[in-house]
Amino acid sequence: MCRLDQSSSTPATPDAIRNVIRKKYAEISVSAIGKFEYPTGRGGARALGYNPAIIESAVPNLLESFCGVGNPFSLGDIHPGYVVLDIGCGAGFDLFTASRLVGENGRVCGIDLTDEMIERSQNNLADANVSNVEIKKVDSENIPYDDNTFDVVISNGVINLSPDKNITFNEIYRVLKPEGRLQFADVVLENELPANMAGSLEAWSQ
Ligand SMILES: C[S@@+](CC[C@H](N)C(=O)[O-])C[C@H]1O[C@@H](n2cnc3c(N)ncnc32)[C@H](O)[C@@H]1O
Repeated sequence: MCRLDQSSSTPATPDAIRNVIRKKYAEISVSAIGKFEYPTGRGGARALGYNPAIIESAVPNLLESFCGVGNPFSLGDIHPGYVVLDIGCGAGFDLFTASRLVGENGRVCGIDLTDEMIERSQNNLADANVSNVEIKKVDSENIPYDDNTFDVVISNGVINLSPDKNITFNEIYRVLKPEGRLQFADVVLENELPANMAGSLEAWSQ
C-alpha cells in the first residue's frame, strides 16, 4: 500500500520516499548548519550533552554535517570491546563517538542509504585516523550483518525516515545479541498530521 503525494501526484512508494530522503541528505552532507529547526553541528552536539572531550577531539568536518535529534549515548554505557551498529550514520560523528568508546578492541559498523553521506563519513573518519569503523551503503530494512552480531545498535533521527518501521525493528532485533540493546533517539508525532503533509513525499525528510 502507498499514499499519494498531494504536491506532485507521485505515489509515496518506499523507493520514492528513499529518493527524496537521499536528495535531502546529499545537501546535508555538505553542511547541516541552518537547515533544520533544531541546533545542528558542534553547537547541536554540545546542546545534546555529547562528551565534551570527544567533541573537542573530532575533526571539524565530522561536526559540520551532524544533525542528530538526540543523544543515543546518554541511554546506556558503551564499553571497551563492544561491537556497535549505527543505523543512518550520516557524516560520521556518532560513529566517531562510538569508536572512541569501544576502543581498539571493539568494532563499529555504520549503514546509510545516501552515497554522499557514505563518502563524507569515510573521508571524515580517515581524516580522524579512525580504523575500527566500517561503513556500508544500505537501508535500514536490509541490514547486511549476521544474526546476533551487535552488543548495541544506535540510531539518531533515522528510524522515523524508514518507509517500513516494522521491518527495520525486526532487522535490528535480528542482528542484536540476545543481551544486546537498542539505544535510539528520534522524532515522534504528537498529533495527526494535516492531510497535505500526510501525503507529502517532501515531508518525510523535513
Ligand atoms: C538525521 S541524520 C543522522 C545523523 C547522524 N547519526 C549524525 O551523526 O549526524 C539521517 C541519516 O540517515 C540516513 N537515512 C535516512 N533513512 C535511512 C534508512 N531508511 N536507512 C539507512 N539510512 C537512512 C540519511 O541518509 C542521513 O544520512
